[in-house]
Amino acid sequence: MLILASAAEVTVVSKEARRAGKRVGFVPTMGALHQGHLSLVRTARAQADVVITSVFVNPLQFGPTEDFSKYPRDAEKDSAMLAAEKCDYLFLPSVEEMYPPGATTWVNVEGLSEKLDGHSRPGHFRGVTTVVAKLFNIVQPDFAFFGQKDAAQVAIINKMVHDLNFDVRIVVCPIMREADGLAMSSRNAYLNPDQRKQALVLYRSLMRVQTLADRGESSSARLKVAGAQVMAEEAAVKLDYFEIVNRDTLEPVADISGGALVAVAAYVGSTRLIDNILVTGKGNAAEPR
Ligand code: PAJ
Repeated sequence: MLILASAAEVTVVSKEARRAGKRVGFVPTMGALHQGHLSLVRTARAQADVVITSVFVNPLQFGPTEDFSKYPRDAEKDSAMLAAEKCDYLFLPSVEEMYPPGATTWVNVEGLSEKLDGHSRPGHFRGVTTVVAKLFNIVQPDFAFFGQKDAAQVAIINKMVHDLNFDVRIVVCPIMREADGLAMSSRNAYLNPDQRKQALVLYRSLMRVQTLADRGESSSARLKVAGAQVMAEEAAVKLDYFEIVNRDTLEPVADISGGALVAVAAYVGSTRLIDNILVTGKGNAAEPR
């Protein structure tokens, strides 16, 4: 695996691969890699000829009181994990490489960017879409791989690609979980053993909704109350939102008959965790996109 720090070099590598008739798969990440990230890399490896992964902790998507400076960073471990997955190139840019002084352009998906996590994290998705747009222009991939774990991010990236005619196919991969159900996340590293147990309440609340939906309950209002009730069982966990929305528009839906995204966010101590499930009207887990 080759490590590249220069955007221009990545563009050359990608152009040459495509000129040779190879399909380029791209996995954008912020590092502190775990099996969730690696599942995207494996899917990319299976679907593309050349796999490029980026590791860049993007300052633009962190709020002033968020964890940008303490976000876990371990480039050596990340690069060893990626090499073991037969990733071809690791793009590891500096902040100056991505944002040379004087850059003033933003990419913002209006409407969607203020929903779910965007509501509690103002400016977050504008930072995500700006960096992903830049990464797409640098890497020029045929396919880009994202996790369903960040369901709002998926909806927003899909909308950006559609609205701005990016010539890239977005592939969405399922949520990877620990054995007990906790969704894998780089932020799980912040949890102490007590908090690690408390964090399970997010998954439990979603499973409660899944069970009720399986039994035929389709009212979002009732499902939301049930989910929020489970969340309240863990007094140390502070609920941010428990929402049932359309997976593409992120608008609330009154009932889940046409399928819905059930999404939860909560603070365990100062660590903000998110999780979600897709349900169909019949209560079955929805097909991945
Ligand atoms: P990061 O949080 O590092 O996640 C990188 C990718 O891994 C995202 O597409 C995310 O949804 C996926 N992912 C994380 N945990 C997962 C899990 N448990 N199962 C499946 N996929 C998982 O998301 C970002 O970085 C950034 O916002 C980024 C898109 C890189 C832009 O900076």
